Amino acid sequence: MERLILVGMMGAGKTTIGRELAKRCGMRFVDCDHEIEARTGVKIPTIFEIEGEEGFRRRETQVIDELTRIDGLVIATGGGAVMRAENRAMLAERGVVIYLNVPPQVLWERTRRDRNRPLLQVSNPRERIFSLHQQRDPLYREIADIVVDGGRGNPGGTIRQIQKALE
Ligand code: S3P
Repeated sequence: MERLILVGMMGAGKTTIGRELAKRCGMRFVDCDHEIEARTGVKIPTIFEIEGEEGFRRRETQVIDELTRIDGLVIATGGGAVMRAENRAMLAERGVVIYLNVPPQVLWERTRRDRNRPLLQVSNPRERIFSLHQQRDPLYREIADIVVDGGRGNPGGTIRQIQKALE
């Protein structure tokens, strides 16, 4: 297996699951957002402040393009990575795509105290989560090879589901 790619909304657990999955599969874990932060030396909200969402998305596409050419990686993407068709094409072609599907209410409960996600710094973040989920769920499904339930607060169970699907 050359690479495993985790997609799903903010709060779906891509980083937690990805890190553990990599350990179990003897692969290396990378997170696109962390990679962007490492390269720029600043946090995601600062990139949004200075360059706007468009600037962030350009950096995200660049990182996706580079990471999806490296073998032996488990890659956690940012929740909005599927918004650009060119990203979807790269992700679908270059790895086994795993969609961590989590109901919007659970996403909301997991992210409500988070200050590190600029898209949720709005007057009604709950509504934002629901509308982003509605918009993106079909896009995650469009490129997913595997869809797993990540909403039960049981990372071990989710990882077992993934490993079973990969057998
Ligand atoms: C975003 C999700 C974030 C990060 C940025 C934008 C989104 O990643 O890339 O804040 O558009 O949903 P996580 O899904 O890791 O929170």
